[in-house]
Amino acid sequence: MKIKIAQETNLNSIQKVIETAFSEGENKVIMNLVAGLSNETTNPPIKSLIAEVDNQVVGYVSYSPIFLRLDANISGYILAPLAISPVHQKQGVGTKLIKSGIDMLVKDGVDVLLVYGDPDYYGRFGFEKENARSFVPPYPLEYPFGWLGMMLNEIAIPNITVEFECVAALSKPDLW
Ligand SMILES: CC(C)(COP(=O)(O)OP(=O)(O)OC[C@H]1O[C@@H](n2cnc3c(N)ncnc32)[C@H](O)[C@@H]1OP(=O)(O)O)[C@@H](O)C(=O)NCCC(=O)NCCS
Repeated sequence: MKIKIAQETNLNSIQKVIETAFSEGENKVIMNLVAGLSNETTNPPIKSLIAEVDNQVVGYVSYSPIFLRLDANISGYILAPLAISPVHQKQGVGTKLIKSGIDMLVKDGVDVLLVYGDPDYYGRFGFEKENARSFVPPYPLEYPFGWLGMMLNEIAIPNITVEFECVAALSKPDLW
């Protein structure tokens, strides 16, 4: 399995992964998200990774920056979405995409990585709700227990709450 930076030319293959990995009700929304992420230019940049097996895209993850409303001197990213094609699930592909992403963001000097997902899955990588509590997302969460974070360096978790904005593709209430 190879982990690579996603390119524009991978978009169709990524969308096939999303379409099959998520349920019928959910996949259109996530495909829209992926299309939005691939079109958007931000500073710092959105970074997406793919996993390839036999030159076929079998997994995808995207990391996009968050923009704190208050200058708390912290840089953050959010992980969303993550998807592995069903036939390649439970073979460590998701794990590799997350660990590669963490390594990449640590090298970039990012302080905190947030995720909104299943604590049973993300907990194994070190995501904890205590690390996310200070970071207030732009929309109310349907499942607050899924709001998790990981500090990527020695920086302390802020002891005040900090509101933040996301990239445009994620700034949709339905996604939260
Ligand atoms: C969730 C998902 C990304 C996991 O990817 P994966 O490549 O299958 O995961 P890995 O092989 O790295 O890890 C598999 C392990 O995670 C566990 N796992 C998978 N999904 C899980 C979940 N929702 N909750 C808890 N554990 C989960 C598996 O049981 C397995 O455990 P084991 O190592 O003890 O056997 C993948 O199943 C997927 O694409 N699902 C559909 C889309 C989705 O839900 N994305 C997440 C959005 S937040």
